[in-house]
Amino acid sequence: MEHLPQRYRQLFPTVQTHTMLASCSQSALAEPVSRAIKDYHDSLLHMGTNWNEAIEKTESARIEFAKLIGAEPDEIAIVPSVSDALVSAVSSLSAFRKKHVVYTEMDFPAVSHVWQAQSDYNVSVIPSIDGGLPPEQYETHITDETVLTCVPHVHYRDGFVQDIKAVAEISKRKDSLLFVDAYQSAGHIPIDVKEWGVDMLAAGTRKYLLGIPGAAFLYVRKELADALKPKASAWFGRENGLPAEYAKGARRFQTGTPAFISVYAAAAALSLLNHIGVSHIRDHVKTICADACQYASEKGLQPAAAQAGCQPGMVAIRDERASETAMLLRKKKVICAPRDAVIRLAPHFYNTSEELHHAIDEIAAVLAAR
Ligand SMILES: Cc1ncc(COP(=O)(O)O)c(C=O)c1O
Repeated sequence: MEHLPQRYRQLFPTVQTHTMLASCSQSALAEPVSRAIKDYHDSLLHMGTNWNEAIEKTESARIEFAKLIGAEPDEIAIVPSVSDALVSAVSSLSAFRKKHVVYTEMDFPAVSHVWQAQSDYNVSVIPSIDGGLPPEQYETHITDETVLTCVPHVHYRDGFVQDIKAVAEISKRKDSLLFVDAYQSAGHIPIDVKEWGVDMLAAGTRKYLLGIPGAAFLYVRKELADALKPKASAWFGRENGLPAEYAKGARRFQTGTPAFISVYAAAAALSLLNHIGVSHIRDHVKTICADACQYASEKGLQPAAAQAGCQPGMVAIRDERASETAMLLRKKKVICAPRDAVIRLAPHFYNTSEELHHAIDEIAAVLAAR
């Protein structure tokens, strides 16, 4: 395939003026996505109502996300955020006798917040080892009493990539459901929920999915969804709006009117990603990240622990004053995402190796001046 940045960079006005490397937080806005946001706005401004179009757009977004992860559209719920996706999933577990759940030390903090609020469950946290989560950790901590295992596909801070198929095999053997948080992977790492044997998976739209906040997706395997009765469910989760009947499939995990403006953005963004193909994006991002990790080491910077061996899609550089460094870089129009004691350089298909080198040079200069 043709070099991706060459082909698609002109779709992203911001990359003409800035070094945009914050896809793990908010990716650059593509022109088709910007147009979709404007379409929503203009339809209200000029037509007064746009309900039918908005419902159609919601279905387009559902179809595109299903395509991205190898699912059927009926297996996708549209929810406001990944946190809401987990809350809805948890609200469907009371049907099970088992009350033990596990999540990992590498999950985003929102996952622990959701579980802290669930006094009915006995919760265990799987510790990481040397910046990774080897399958043995799941083997030890998931028990026959575990009703749900929560796991991040990619660690939000260091970029560690979890082998989800291996975790799914263990959780299935122990009769635990598996919930995958794919917010840091969807859009740059291929996902195949059927091939991997995932029960539930969530991703929001503003990171590598090229959208804006306000919309997220929850995949629930069809047979499982039809057997569950989520307590977090309302009129968008009902069959034809009937009060008593749950909608078929994952739609029953929906509550109220979606943030349509975010859904318009998501439909346009997902269509672009599916057109390019996530496997092409993965090849490109992995290659430029491997090169940048090497370059960062040569410059005397310290890549985070997980960078070795797991082919991450970000370059995470240790820096105790990461937020301060990111502010200084922003003045030079280098946009990256600090988190705790790490500066994350998170490229997408529109980025080049030269941009990563430039950001690394700037970070090295800031650190050398301290
Ligand atoms: C891996 C991961 N999961 C969940 C979240 C929280 O997502 P939301 O704000 O949509 O609930 C984030 C946000 O950065 C994240 O990186």
